[in-house]
Amino acid sequence: MAKVKTTFFCQNCGAQYAKWQGQCNSCKQWNTIAEEVIQKPEKSDWKSSTTTKRVSKPLRINEIDTTQEARLDMQDAEFNRVLGGGMVQGSLTLLGGEPGIGKSTLLLQVALSLPYKTLYVSGEESQKQIKMRAERINPKDNNCYILTETKTQNIFKQIEEVEPDLVIIDSIQTLHSDYIESSAGSISQIKECTTELIKFAKETATPVLLIGHITKDGHIAGPKILEHMVDTVLQFEGDRNHVFRILRAHKNRFGSTNELGIYEMQGSGLREVSNPSEILISEKDGELSGNAIAATLEGLRPLMIEVQALVSTAVYGTPQRSATGFNAKRLNMLLAVLEKRAGFRLGAKDVFLNITGGITVDDPAIDLAVVASILSSNEDVALPSDYCFAAEVGLSGEIRPVQRVEQRILEAEKLGFSTIFVSKYNKISLKKTSIKIQLISKIEDLVGFVV
Ligand code: TYD
Ligand code: MG
Repeated sequence: MAKVKTTFFCQNCGAQYAKWQGQCNSCKQWNTIAEEVIQKPEKSDWKSSTTTKRVSKPLRINEIDTTQEARLDMQDAEFNRVLGGGMVQGSLTLLGGEPGIGKSTLLLQVALSLPYKTLYVSGEESQKQIKMRAERINPKDNNCYILTETKTQNIFKQIEEVEPDLVIIDSIQTLHSDYIESSAGSISQIKECTTELIKFAKETATPVLLIGHITKDGHIAGPKILEHMVDTVLQFEGDRNHVFRILRAHKNRFGSTNELGIYEMQGSGLREVSNPSEILISEKDGELSGNAIAATLEGLRPLMIEVQALVSTAVYGTPQRSATGFNAKRLNMLLAVLEKRAGFRLGAKDVFLNITGGITVDDPAIDLAVVASILSSNEDVALPSDYCFAAEVGLSGEIRPVQRVEQRILEAEKLGFSTIFVSKYNKISLKKTSIKIQLISKIEDLVGFVV
């Protein structure tokens, strides 16, 4: 019997060692190196029958045939947008996200809406469970095949029979290959299974979508090399208690990583949200103090977001400051600027800040709306509901310019806002707008307008 071969892998970064050690040399993490059984494959190929392959030759750029590079239309405007206009033939796409966020739902929904033959391979749920889910989403489809299998060799055998136009794997961490003996989900298994899938995708020009689990600190579980191997890495994020989900590209070999897709989770699957701003701004009877609208950008997409602040006299000794969806340190900084530059005595007040819709914003252009909502709540004076804000606030109370201000102004105009507050230092080349562009340079200027 052949001797069992083992190697040591860092479970964090995937570095390989001949013997155990306490700290990984490459990522400097402690206690992450574990022994895994490997078996060097005689052949590691996705096909059961090996044919002699043509050796590839170098070609001039203009000799390369690109008629094959057609993209597969995913029948989902948001998904297409994030991919850069559809899935490229023979590409591998990895979709990561928190458990229960809706990764399986999204990809099953995509599989069910496509007019092509799709194969959905699940290592996590049974065929009956998937059918129950499919019935909620789209009960009429009959182009989608469901397979519950975890061994790659068996999967490829079924693929040869079904010949699908798109393969979906849920999830890469449940797959295992016969050529490696370590357990499913280990570094060497993930590496091997992905290699086999890449070979399959490139040789048959079939696009493959993989679902990947994430670790508790938010990275995709498995070696970092997984993200290098695939063509596109997508992240599905959002707050599980809220209905909005955001699909983002972290890496895309065939498109921009600035695009993002927005979905709403409903009882019958995910709904594409083509105009998010209208949903993020709540309908109200009358004007309420402490509310302000910010014209922000998520990637390349303008989003109008509602900021709510509550300022009240602190009952206990130390005033409380809390922020949901906004950086708490940044809130403290803005409060200090207000105190020093605009003379507001906020030191003895509790300040609570909330970004509605359960989203987290790190666009600095939201600063001005945050300041306006705090002022409005402090004075208990409501801001006109057709005002919106897009500027960064600096430490000396200056209003700083933000990028792509024109795009923000146009979005605000489209949604019927009457006035947008932006920095005086922003270069605006828009000719004629129906929205009033109010230029301000210092935080004191804002105080004059809102209170
Ligand atoms: P799921 O796709 O199983 O998550 P993941 O694969 O990322 O772990 O999503 C599960 C959640 O989605 C679950 O909490 C229920 C919700 N859901 C709906 O609200 N409506 C639906 O139609 C479906 C299928 C799921
Ligand atoms: Mg799932």
